[in-house]
Amino acid sequence: MATLLTVPAKAIRQEEKGVRRLRVPLLAGNWKMYKTPSQAAQYVSAFLPLIRTLTGVEVALCPPFVDLTTVAAALRRGRGERGTEVSVALGAQDVFWEDEGAFTGEVAPGMLVDAGCQYVIIGHSERRQYFGETDEQVNRKVKAALSHGLRPIICVGESLAQREAGQSDEVVRRQTRAALAGLTPDQAAGLVIAYEPIWAIGTGRNATGEEANRVIGIIRQVVGELYPGQPQVAQSVRIQYGGSVKPNNAAEFLGQPEVDGALVGGASLDPQGFATLCQLAAEAAADRARSGQ
Ligand code: 13P
Repeated sequence: MATLLTVPAKAIRQEEKGVRRLRVPLLAGNWKMYKTPSQAAQYVSAFLPLIRTLTGVEVALCPPFVDLTTVAAALRRGRGERGTEVSVALGAQDVFWEDEGAFTGEVAPGMLVDAGCQYVIIGHSERRQYFGETDEQVNRKVKAALSHGLRPIICVGESLAQREAGQSDEVVRRQTRAALAGLTPDQAAGLVIAYEPIWAIGTGRNATGEEANRVIGIIRQVVGELYPGQPQVAQSVRIQYGGSVKPNNAAEFLGQPEVDGALVGGASLDPQGFATLCQLAAEAAADRARSGQ
């Protein structure tokens, strides 16, 4: 079983001791189906020097499967050469729930761990929409990832039609309940959930900061309802916003009290642009810490 990253675990321990916890925002770059292994290596060499000294924020790169070992090696090299204060983790974009077997084209959780991953995105709306992934499959993947020590980034979010029909809250409630079904409180507390309204993904249309904060508050409430009498679970789970986050609108989301970072698609493909987003997240985290949020 792989060791999970230390920052959230430490924060959860603080919670147990009665110390108010501060959730560490996570900026995750979902590269989707972009970048070859050699392009990925160039990206990491350009990116690491730009974010090396950031504090109060965690960063994750989620490249395509074929880039994972290249990015893992480049991250190790970068840490060794210059040292980084900020934690830069590696994540995959999907996982299958079986440990091994005749499942052509699928990738098992143990393979991701061996390739150097700490995170895995599960239930992205593009997988739900284009590949027919169901709530039940998302839950199976979440359980498989957790049982191998991977930290899931679970995506939830409503479509434009659901939003126009006034069903946004109901949809994210259902997806959240289904994704977390059967998880222990400790497993749930370590999760990352990304609220990604489908109508905002890759469209240049984004939710307002206030709207994102409101829906993320609902997701946190659902997590609280799933673990009655254990408020630390909902307080610990990190919930990001995703959907057309760019350097010119990121501060609006990252400054919201319920929003714990961002899951970024298009704007994570350029190392300079993604570094700017990480910088903005670090500034927002410092402001939150100062104001005690
Ligand atoms: P964009 O940032 O390109 O809208 O993509 C968001 C997303 O789907 C991240 O997972």
